[in-house]
Amino acid sequence: MKSPIIVALDYPELAMATAMLDRLDPAMTRVKVGKEMFTRFGPAMVEACMQRGFEVFLDLKFHDIPNTVAGACRSAADLGVWMMNVHASGGRRMMEAAAEAIQSSSAKLIGVTILTSLSQEEIAEIGYSGTPEENVSRLAALAKASGLDGIVCSPREAARIRAELGPDFDLVTPGVRPAGSDTGDQRRVMTPRDALDAGATSLVIGRPITGAPDPQSALEEILASIS
Ligand code: C5P
Repeated sequence: MKSPIIVALDYPELAMATAMLDRLDPAMTRVKVGKEMFTRFGPAMVEACMQRGFEVFLDLKFHDIPNTVAGACRSAADLGVWMMNVHASGGRRMMEAAAEAIQSSSAKLIGVTILTSLSQEEIAEIGYSGTPEENVSRLAALAKASGLDGIVCSPREAARIRAELGPDFDLVTPGVRPAGSDTGDQRRVMTPRDALDAGATSLVIGRPITGAPDPQSALEEILASIS
């Protein structure tokens, strides 16, 4: 699998997700299953993806005491997912326990630093001092020091984190829009080419592919734009 694309599957019905999976080539993309679909359909959702040959990023952003998060990560690894994530703000011991729990599997573990939906004021309100950028940098470094394989971040943050943490760290970026496409509710977007040039290793892309009249063609156009 050389494609850096991860298609976000966000649907209220399993049949809608499987119809989308059946229109995409698993050799050209991975897929992301998040809280909406996993809460409704559970492991069956992940299995529907894997049966069709797709590698799965299980985006459940675990955040709990170390023992509980370690157990959740073990469960995800046992499902056979390619990648999963935890909140870096759960702390070093939580992240170390999560990483240790899945070390015998090939699954990747990445951290969520500061949700991109949070404003400077909201970050201050929950008690973090400093700018969002300073908090992202601190939590990304803590994730790396705790044994995680990478982080989720905005493509706008990718170049800085890549410079700070070096080459051996996955940067998974949503907020990616092909040139000329509708930005939807995303505010600060980058094109796939620019995100990769900034240091992203995987690009989470939803509606520009899933909302296209021909999703597979949209996927191929994006791959052509970055080849
Ligand atoms: O449709 P779109 O390309 O905006 O989908 C992006 C996906 O990435 C969605 O599943 C969204 O929940 C997720 N995501 C995001 N921004 C973040 C974190 C996750 O858009 N900061």
